[in-house]
Amino acid sequence: MLIAKTIAEARAAVARLRAERHCIGLVPTMGALHQGHISLVRAAKATCDAVIATIFVNPTQFAPGEDFAKYPRRLEADCALLEAEGVDVLFAPDPEEMYPEGATTFVEVAGISDRLDGASRPGHFRGVATVVAKLFNIVQPDKAFFGQKDGAQVAVLRRMVRDLNFNLELVVCPTVREPDGLAMSSRNHYLSAEERQSALVLSRALRHIEARIAAGVIESARLMDVGLAVLAEEPEIRLDYLCIVDPETLEDVADVSAGALVAVAAAVGPARLIDNLLVPSR
Ligand code: PAF
Repeated sequence: MLIAKTIAEARAAVARLRAERHCIGLVPTMGALHQGHISLVRAAKATCDAVIATIFVNPTQFAPGEDFAKYPRRLEADCALLEAEGVDVLFAPDPEEMYPEGATTFVEVAGISDRLDGASRPGHFRGVATVVAKLFNIVQPDKAFFGQKDGAQVAVLRRMVRDLNFNLELVVCPTVREPDGLAMSSRNHYLSAEERQSALVLSRALRHIEARIAAGVIESARLMDVGLAVLAEEPEIRLDYLCIVDPETLEDVADVSAGALVAVAAAVGPARLIDNLLVPSR
């Protein structure tokens, strides 16, 4: 696996791959890799001729006071994992490489970026859209792979790809869970054993809602009551939102009959965790 630290090295590596392979897959990450990331790499390996992963803890998607400084950084272990998965190139730039002195251009996906996590983390999706647009420009992939766990991020990036005419397919892979249901996240590393136990209430609330939908309930208000009652069983969490929205626009929906995203976010100890459930359209 070639490790590119600079944009020039990444571009040269992509050009060499492009000369002989047709489909290039990109897996953008912030590192501290877990099986969720590995599932993205495997999906890319299964459908592309070459895979480029990126590891970059992107400062512009963290607000002041958030966990940018303490976000887990494990480049050596991550490299070993990616190498074992047969990734062709890892692009792992430093912040100065991605944001040189004087960089003032940002990608703003207006409106949708202010919903869900964007409402409680102002500027977050501006940072995500900007860095992902930059990675798309540097790598020019045919496909880019993201996890469904970040449901609002997926909606923002889909809109950006459409609005800015990026010539690529955005592939969304299912959330990978621990055996007890906890959605895998690099931020799970922050949790103590007790906090990890409390965090299970997020997936439990989604499962209860899913069961009510399977039983025929479609009204969002009734489903919200079910979810909120489960979340209230766990006083240790600080709920940010539970909502039922259109997965493309992130606007509230009155019922889930046409497919919906049921999304939850809460702080558990020092970690802000998110999870969601995609209701299939009938
Ligand atoms: O989902 C993430 O890990 C990040 O938001 C991403 C897409 C790599 C951009 O920094």
